[in-house]
Amino acid sequence: MLATSRISRPEPRIRAAAIVAALLLLLALGCTRGMPPDPARALLRREPFKLGRTVASSSGLVVCADAEAARIGARVLAEGGNAVDAAVAVAFALAVTHPQAGNLGGGGFMLVRRPDGSVDAVDYRETAPAAFHPEVYLGTDGEIDRTRYDNPYLQVGVPGTVAGLALAHRRHGRRPFHLLVEPAERLARAGFIVSPLLARDLRLHRAKLSRHPSTVRVFFHWDREPYQAGERLQQPELAGVLKSIATGGTDVFYRGWIGEAIAQKVRAGGGCLTAADFRRYEARLRDPIRTPLRGGELIGMPPPSSGGIAVAQVLAILDSPALHRADPVGPQLAHALAESLRRAFRDRALHLGDPDFTAVPVNQLLSAAHVKELRGGIDPRRATPSESLWPVPLPLPEAGGETTHFSVLDRDGMAVANTYTLEQTFGGGVVAADLGIFLNNELGDFNPKPGDTDRAGRIGTPPNLPAAGKRPLSSMSPAIYVRDGQVEIITGSPGGRTIISTVAGVLLKRLFLELDPEHAVWSPRLHHAWLPDRLELEEGLWPPQTLEVLRALGHTVKTASSQGAAHSIFRDGERGYVGVGDCRGDGWAAAPTWFDGDEER
Ligand code: DON
Repeated sequence: MLATSRISRPEPRIRAAAIVAALLLLLALGCTRGMPPDPARALLRREPFKLGRTVASSSGLVVCADAEAARIGARVLAEGGNAVDAAVAVAFALAVTHPQAGNLGGGGFMLVRRPDGSVDAVDYRETAPAAFHPEVYLGTDGEIDRTRYDNPYLQVGVPGTVAGLALAHRRHGRRPFHLLVEPAERLARAGFIVSPLLARDLRLHRAKLSRHPSTVRVFFHWDREPYQAGERLQQPELAGVLKSIATGGTDVFYRGWIGEAIAQKVRAGGGCLTAADFRRYEARLRDPIRTPLRGGELIGMPPPSSGGIAVAQVLAILDSPALHRADPVGPQLAHALAESLRRAFRDRALHLGDPDFTAVPVNQLLSAAHVKELRGGIDPRRATPSESLWPVPLPLPEAGGETTHFSVLDRDGMAVANTYTLEQTFGGGVVAADLGIFLNNELGDFNPKPGDTDRAGRIGTPPNLPAAGKRPLSSMSPAIYVRDGQVEIITGSPGGRTIISTVAGVLLKRLFLELDPEHAVWSPRLHHAWLPDRLELEEGLWPPQTLEVLRALGHTVKTASSQGAAHSIFRDGERGYVGVGDCRGDGWAAAPTWFDGDEER
């Protein structure tokens, strides 16, 4: 009897309240479906990681351009994977959730520093096909033929990403390769929620993307409207490719059906990639650029990236007590940085290219004597006209598009700095039919016309001319800074040539100005690339007085939209390590919590 009375019907008022509460709950659950990822939800679900724009952790960190990919990387760390395992999983995941630059069809560079101090510099840059030659973009009149130069299929190099990730994994990975590909495959198959950033980029690049039916099929609805933020995007063809890679490894890509299908697609569009080009491809281990700096060591990527040398040169030129704790938005620092960049970019145009094709005088460019000479040429009261550093004007082509950088650190101190790209946002806009893979347009990074040194905005210096089997010069600058045997900074950025300015700026602010990690990443940036001879400053962020002084010093000042996205990790005293997602690129930091004690469990 007692039991019956306990379950007797509640009185009507309570019943009504319960029904309203249930309805509200259902409504709330319904509303959150299809919403952009909410970082707080991960914590509520007690996932094995914490996620935020900034996260402090001593048990490992992943910082990248997408919350879902950051979670995947942190989960790999939580499950006992090391930094390379996590980096491989993040790279595959970004190919699904951040198709603007995350890729299987592009290439990049990865630095791995092991706790014992040894470093791998993995070059997985795209490579020109065997049919390439220095006049590939010229017409019969010897001038640049726009129909050739602008044809996205003629800019596709053999993609290096799958080979690069596999090489890094073979050397350092702890978890089975297929387990690191699977989270990406699941995301591609089941779909993921389109972020506001992806939706914006699909809208911005709509014209380029909608020229290719194979691209429209994936990223646009039946009414030719691109996917919007909050919608679920599924990529079954990409899922199929990822499944093949998970089980078949690099062979299915470079010696099997995937490479063959890409080559066929590229040739049908007027390019010249063949299955044999895929068979020849290899990711390479290079000697990293290691330079002493402020009692520690800066580690960067050597050619065919220009980043390691240029960033090291800039910081060496600036390394003087005068800048110690300088105002980060004052004219003194801006002038000094611009002048250093101007000189490093001049050297870049003169000397840098694929080291398998051109002798790069690395030691000379980084020698104390050369740095001293460059520093000595800087006038603190006057901007140096760029043309005075060269007998003839050599304007460089405009940068444009999207790349992505991520940083990973595991609890044992293994560090990964990885920057990879399709060159422009979504590459040339072409998805290879039936594969769901965006193709790169990286070969546009070659100097298009030998000897073309006019003012039209090109350079034609020999080190970076197209050639069969050659890798185009890159600005991608993944970087690791180590002091007293401890990793202090892991950084890098997208942004074409501005990458070098961004990475040098982040390192400078942390090491010389001693800003806290957040300010080192979030504070205003500038860029100077020697030519065009102008100083670009992020719009609305610099004090007007600084701009006035810079103009008075003789700089041509131009305001520019936001620069780069330096998703970085720093060692920061009592906070341990801090991951800082760059708000310019929707950056997220994630850390495993299994190792963190009770607080987050
Ligand atoms: O390798 C390079 O330097 C260029 N292909 C990178 C392109 C890039 O960063 C575009 N923008 N974010």
